[in-house]
Amino acid sequence: MKTDVHGNLEGLRDAVIAALQALYDYEAESFLPRELMQTLSALSGKINREIAVYLTRDGEVADVAVGTDREVELRDLRLRRSTRRLSCVRCVHTHPDGDGRLSDVDISALKSYRYDAMIAVGCRDGEPTWVQAAFLQGEDEPLVTEPARWYRLPEDAWERQVEEADAAMDAMARAEEAVRPQRERVVLMGIESEESLDELARLAETAGAEVVGRFLQKKDRPDSALFIGRGRAEELALDCQALNADTCVFDDELSGIQARNLEDLLRVKVVDRTTLILDIFAQRAVSAEGKTQVELAQLKYRAARLIGLRASLSRLAGGIGTRGPGESKLEIDRRRIRSRVTELERRLQELEKQRGIRRKSRERNEIPVVALVGYTNAGKSSLLNTLTGADVYVQDQLFATLDTVGRRMETPEHTVYLLEDTVGFIRKLPHTLISAFRSTLEEAAGADVLVLVSDGAASDRVRQHDTVEQVLSELGAVDQPRIEVLNKCDLEGVLPFLPGMLAVSAKTGEGLESLKNAIAGQLQSRQTTAVFFLPYSRYGDCQLVRRAGRVLREENTDEGTLLTVSLPREELDHLSRALGPDAIRGTSGG
Ligand code: GTP
Repeated sequence: MKTDVHGNLEGLRDAVIAALQALYDYEAESFLPRELMQTLSALSGKINREIAVYLTRDGEVADVAVGTDREVELRDLRLRRSTRRLSCVRCVHTHPDGDGRLSDVDISALKSYRYDAMIAVGCRDGEPTWVQAAFLQGEDEPLVTEPARWYRLPEDAWERQVEEADAAMDAMARAEEAVRPQRERVVLMGIESEESLDELARLAETAGAEVVGRFLQKKDRPDSALFIGRGRAEELALDCQALNADTCVFDDELSGIQARNLEDLLRVKVVDRTTLILDIFAQRAVSAEGKTQVELAQLKYRAARLIGLRASLSRLAGGIGTRGPGESKLEIDRRRIRSRVTELERRLQELEKQRGIRRKSRERNEIPVVALVGYTNAGKSSLLNTLTGADVYVQDQLFATLDTVGRRMETPEHTVYLLEDTVGFIRKLPHTLISAFRSTLEEAAGADVLVLVSDGAASDRVRQHDTVEQVLSELGAVDQPRIEVLNKCDLEGVLPFLPGMLAVSAKTGEGLESLKNAIAGQLQSRQTTAVFFLPYSRYGDCQLVRRAGRVLREENTDEGTLLTVSLPREELDHLSRALGPDAIRGTSGG
C-alpha cells in the first residue's frame, strides 16, 4: 500500500497503515490536543511500536513515522534554512511502555534538530498516561517540564515557552550573524582547465565567498553572446537555483554584453575573474597609493564594460564586484567615471612623486634590496617571517600581501640589506592590474637581487614559474642576479625542477642557511671594508660613517676617531665625496 508514513511499517495491516496515513489530514487546534494523544496512543498500543508525528505551527501534520517498541527514528524537519533558528515543528511521540519521560536521545534530537518542542506521550493499554515536554532555551540547557497527567497539560504555558525559545534562538542567531556575516554563495564556471578553476576557487574564498559548485565546459573559443553555449547556460541557471547560489563567477573576462545576458538568464549576480581579483585587491590594499591604483583599475575596467552593464544585480546584490576602496564604491555612471578617473590619476602622480622621493633617499643610503618574488601563495611572507623573525601577515589565501613589506637584514659579513616581500603573481593577471600594482612590482623590478620563490607543492609549479618569469620580463626585471628557491620541501614529493634550485622550507627552516648564504654571496661582491679617520671636531661626520654600514672597530686616538666599517662600495664612494678623500685611510675586501 502506498503511504507517506515513514519508518518500520513491516508486518502492519493495511487498516493500520491507512489510519496512520489519515493522521496527515489531522489539524491540531491547540498545542497538543487530547484527541491526538488518544488516537496516537490507541494506534501505538495496537502495534506496540512508537509513533512520532511532527506538528507545524499551523497545526498541520508535517510527518508521521513508526519505530520499534523502544524507539522511533527522529527526523530532521527543519523548515528554515538558517542553521540557528527553531525548526517550526514540534515532535510528539509515544512511549508504548507507559513511561512518559523523555530520554537522553529525545533531548539530543531536540538540540540537533531544533524542534519547537519535544514531547513524549506515555501510553498503556491504548490510553495516554503521562506526558513530558522539553524546550530549547538559547545557549542554556533545554527546559524539561515535570511529567504531567495527559488530561492536565499547561498548553498555553507551553506555547509561550516556544515563543520564548524562538526569541532566544533569534537573538543568538542575530548575534552570530553580526559577528560572522553570511558568506556569499558562489558557483564557478570555467572553460579552460581544472587547475585554473582551482585557482578561481581559492580567489573566491579569499574574497570571502563560499564555493558551492564548480563546473567546467571545455571550449576553445567563448561564445560571443553568453560565453558558454546557450544549452549549458540554461543548465547552469538550474544549477545555480538548486545550489541556492547568490553569484556565478566566470573564469575569464566577460564583455559587458555577455555579463548582462548571463545575468538575465541565470538570475544571479554574474562576475568575472578580473572583477573578482580587483575586488580582493580592493579589500586588501593598505597604502594610499595601493588604494588609489585599485580604484582606478576598477573604474577603468567598469567603464570599458558599461555598454552591457546596467544598474542590475551586480550592483544591487552587494558582495564580490561591489567593493571599492574609494568613496565612490563604483556606484557611478560613465559621465562621473571620467572625472573620477582624471582625479585619481592626478592623485596617483602626486603619490608616485612622493614615492620617488622616498626611493631616492633610500638609494642615497645604498642599502641593497633583495626582493622575494613569486606566485601567490608560494610562501614568500612565510619565508620573510622565518628569515627575519618578523610578523608579516601570513594566510592560506591569495594575495595576502598587497603592499611591499621590507625588513632589515644582515649577512654574516655584516652587510646590511633590505629583504622585501612583494605581491604574488597570478595566471591571467589582468593588464589593468599590472599597472595597478606597478608600485609593488616596480620595487621588485628595481631590486638588487631577486629571490624567485616557487611553491613546490603546486601541481602546476612549472607553469607558475613561467608566469613569474613572463611578468618579470614585462616589468624589465631581467638583469639582476637571481636565486631560484623551491619552497615547501617539507612536504612529500617536492623536488627541484630547475638546475641549481635551492630546496627550502619556511615551515621547518630547512635550507634557509643556504638561502641566506646565497643572498650574502650575491651581495658580497658589492661590499667593502674601509678605515675612516675623523678628528673630534667632526663628530657629525662620525655619525654619518657609523650609519653607512657596520662598524667593525672603533678606536679613539689623540687626534680623533678611527673607524673600521664594512659598507657597500656605492656607500664608500658617496662618503668619500661627502667627507673628502682625507677621511679615508684605506680600504680592503670585496
Ligand atoms: P601572497 O601574499 O598571496 O603572495 O602569498 P605568499 O607567497 O606570501 O604565501 P604565504 O607566506 O602567505 O604562505 C601561503 C601558505 O603556504 C600558508 O598557508 C603557509 O602556511 C604555507 N607555507 C608557506 N611556506 C611553507 C612551507 O615551507 N611548508 C609548508 N608545508 N607550508 C608552507
